[in-house]
Amino acid sequence: MVNETRDVLVTRDLKKYFPLRRSLNPFSKAERRVVKAVDGVSISIPRGKTVAIVGESGCGKTTLARTVAQLIAPTSGEILLDGRDMSTMKRKDVYKDVQIVFQDPDSSLDPRKTIADTVGEPVRGLHGGTNRAIDERVMRSLAAVGLSEEQAYRIPKQLSGGQRQRVAIARAIAPSPKLLILDEPTSALDASVQAQILRLLIELQNEFGLSYMLITHNIAVAQYLSDVVAVMYAGHLVEYGPTKTIMARPRHPYTITLMTAAPIANPWKRNLLNIEIKGEVPSAINPPTGCRFNPRCPYVGDVCTKVDPPLEEVSPGHLVACHFKAQTADVVVERRTTSGLAAPEVGAT
Ligand SMILES: Nc1ncnc2c1ncn2[C@@H]1O[C@H](COP(=O)(O)OP(=O)(O)OP(=O)(O)O)[C@@H](O)[C@H]1O
Ligand code: SF4
Ligand SMILES: [Mg+2]
Repeated sequence: MVNETRDVLVTRDLKKYFPLRRSLNPFSKAERRVVKAVDGVSISIPRGKTVAIVGESGCGKTTLARTVAQLIAPTSGEILLDGRDMSTMKRKDVYKDVQIVFQDPDSSLDPRKTIADTVGEPVRGLHGGTNRAIDERVMRSLAAVGLSEEQAYRIPKQLSGGQRQRVAIARAIAPSPKLLILDEPTSALDASVQAQILRLLIELQNEFGLSYMLITHNIAVAQYLSDVVAVMYAGHLVEYGPTKTIMARPRHPYTITLMTAAPIANPWKRNLLNIEIKGEVPSAINPPTGCRFNPRCPYVGDVCTKVDPPLEEVSPGHLVACHFKAQTADVVVERRTTSGLAAPEVGAT
């Protein structure tokens, strides 16, 4: 699954635990508990490709993104950027190559600054150069996302939500990164604008050879944009492999449930947040023993409550963490196909 020359980014057994204070008394000797937000995730992102991270709310997607972007330090494990151990790299060198776009564009835009200043800021900080060289880079980035020179001298509130997300993308691509982390980049936008932004992301990937880590609640968005899908459940990776394979024949019971639950007429509205799976989302502080999906799994067997299943290959590049992965090969998932659609007509993430 790992090819360090081809892969822009590799994580190996990456963990991020958040310590919790059990008592309001900071000197309390009570047992320290932790939230195991990301618990041993190994993924690789091939150059120029998109890996989609999917899973329900709270499964650890944003924590994985923030850890990879070096916004928070990992608890343990390795992150390799172009084969280099990120922990040995200067922050500045990481940020030159890895940029992140959040769901809410306003979180990365200063309301008082012009668009040109906002987009130029990371270029100035990371690469330096003359004002003229920075301005040229800013204008190139804005043109690439479809914004005009006139719009460069506006402030964020003088733009629409979709235009502000274009600015956030321009700001992220301006330092010429290799990897863009996109954390629900379209979920705050109107349906028609979502489709435009998704098309823009594909154009930018083709033009600049960018690699994407795309976090999405929307299976149709993952299918439209990604080459590889990583399904997370309670901090673990439970299924990982080529998008086409997983969409056609998901093998982990959680993925199967996501794909078959709540059949709806419009697959672009298949929103993981709205899919109801029987049972509670597991606690990230005290997850179930054995397989973390066992309290909700329709296929559960005795072994599942005792032994945590390892992630193992079922076909080239397709990995599944389930004791009964041999049996799930026979499960036929009846779902509406999204193939043949040029772009999502209606989005709901
Ligand atoms: N700074 C923090 N301190 C403590 N716990 C945290 C912190 N950040 C995240 N968590 C917890 O880690 C778990 C994973 O959170 P995360 O935000 O990564 O989930 P997510 O998959 O991105 O969810 P969503 O789809 O709702 O955005 C959750 O249980 C969350 O409450
Ligand atoms: S290991 Fe058991 S509980 Fe977990 S997904 Fe497979 S069948 Fe379900
Ligand atoms: Mg999140």
